[in-house]
Amino acid sequence: MKTVLAAESLFVSWQPGDWVLRDIGFSLYPGELVGIIGASGCGKSTFCLALAGIIPRQLPGQVEGKILLAGEDMAQLSLADIVGNLGIVFQDPETQLFLTRVRNELAFGPENLCLPQDELAPRVHKIAKELGCQHLLAANPNELSGGQQQLVALASVLALEPKVLILDEVTSQLDPETCQRIQAIIRDLRQRHVAVLMVEHNLSQLAAADRILVLRDGTIEEAGELIGEGDLSRIYGGGPS
Ligand SMILES: Nc1ncnc2c1ncn2[C@@H]1O[C@H](COP(=O)(O)OP(=O)(O)OP(=O)(O)O)[C@@H](O)[C@H]1O
Ligand SMILES: [Mg+2]
Repeated sequence: MKTVLAAESLFVSWQPGDWVLRDIGFSLYPGELVGIIGASGCGKSTFCLALAGIIPRQLPGQVEGKILLAGEDMAQLSLADIVGNLGIVFQDPETQLFLTRVRNELAFGPENLCLPQDELAPRVHKIAKELGCQHLLAANPNELSGGQQQLVALASVLALEPKVLILDEVTSQLDPETCQRIQAIIRDLRQRHVAVLMVEHNLSQLAAADRILVLRDGTIEEAGELIGEGDLSRIYGGGPS
């Protein structure tokens, strides 16, 4: 099967030469759920931002090696090609919401990818209903709680119907009921062959994962049988923060 997202010999840094990630190989296949865990500051968000092409396009940093999105070299793709295939929800959702109404946030992506006007409102309502945030459509994202912002950021990304979804600690501020709803949405996405890469501190959110990767010392390895209670302190160097 072809990967939907892959990295080959990937090096990423924020400061020239000071590599946060070194020589990483990674593949993600359609319909997979892959979890990423690792100590705070080990580079999980950096990895997500590089895979999404945000470093170096929107955030300054160095990326060496190759990232392939649906088999195409990320460096050669247009922003529209990337956004149409890959959605990312940032660890801090506030940074990705910039309009004054939730409804507009949800419509922004599809509208910019030229979805016909008559399909726009139904798409927005469908996503809002799936995520249980219809009641927030008229609200100003700035005035929402952190958990509600996470939900709106996720909805705005799902409105683009991506093939790959990258979620960076999106459940950190959500209540258990909403976490369960997100798990159900992920199940549904996978059935539609969407691949999901999920950074999580909460391992229960990764119970259904096909694979769990551990990021440590700039490299990535499959957790395999490592994930026993006793081994977590080794991964996190003293427990999840
Ligand atoms: N926007 C940025 N500009 C410069 N350096 C950054 C930036 N974001 C992260 N870093 C640095 O990159 C390194 C990895 O940070 P990163 O945020 O990727 O770790 P993380 O594993 O996501 O941590 P956490 O679990 O706390 O979210 C850290 O040394 C951090 O200071
Ligand atoms: Mg992070």
